[in-house]
Amino acid sequence: MRLDALLTRLGLGSRSEVQRLIRRGAVTVGGRGIRVPGENVQPGALLTVDGQAVDSRVERTLMMYKPAGVLTAARDPKAATVMELLPPVCTSLECMPVGRLDKDTTGLLLLTTDGELAHRLISPKREIRKVYLATVDTPFIPEDVSAFAQGLALSDFTAKPALLEIVDEHTARVTVTEGKYHQVRRMLAARGHDTLALHRERVGPLALDPALRPGETRELTETELSGLRQAVDL
Ligand code: URA
Repeated sequence: MRLDALLTRLGLGSRSEVQRLIRRGAVTVGGRGIRVPGENVQPGALLTVDGQAVDSRVERTLMMYKPAGVLTAARDPKAATVMELLPPVCTSLECMPVGRLDKDTTGLLLLTTDGELAHRLISPKREIRKVYLATVDTPFIPEDVSAFAQGLALSDFTAKPALLEIVDEHTARVTVTEGKYHQVRRMLAARGHDTLALHRERVGPLALDPALRPGETRELTETELSGLRQAVDL
């Protein structure tokens, strides 16, 4: 892609600002000074601006430990959104959340620049497993397990069979393969449980990194990314 377009996508300035940078000789690619804004360069190449190395990859996939109280939305006039927790470069590269977690749900949220990966991960056809730890107000009973396994009838659809594993009286691990609005909360409510806390632990082969604290993000490793891509036949 054009060098000036790459620098703009990386959030280094407007098109005219980065053109000025390039013309004054501030930019090297692959160790070579480039003064022509329209020069064709490869994203991911070794890039320096004013002698500082800049990560020039335009494809990024991150995991976030989503904290409670923030919206999974690109923007919102009033509430804080997950986008505000991203490194600025990811915002300018237009990293988007993969599906949604409710405002009060915590845990693993993926964000990616790769539209096809996102699309496949949320497609109901692919039945990617999502694992949640749910804390509820009333004690779980063994019949909850069989009701989840049979597929719960909700007001507007019947949920696909899901796995409910009781951890203790008020806590269970829930595995679902679809992601309709408020799905896990609604399934629990259908069994008479109000959800007090909901935390996503896994999406497909990927687990939330225990080293992340609420609000923190990190890029996926190559191995994690290829595992995720494999899970959706990419
Ligand atoms: N199910 C819910 O009810 N809420 C979430 O945030 C995710 C799954």
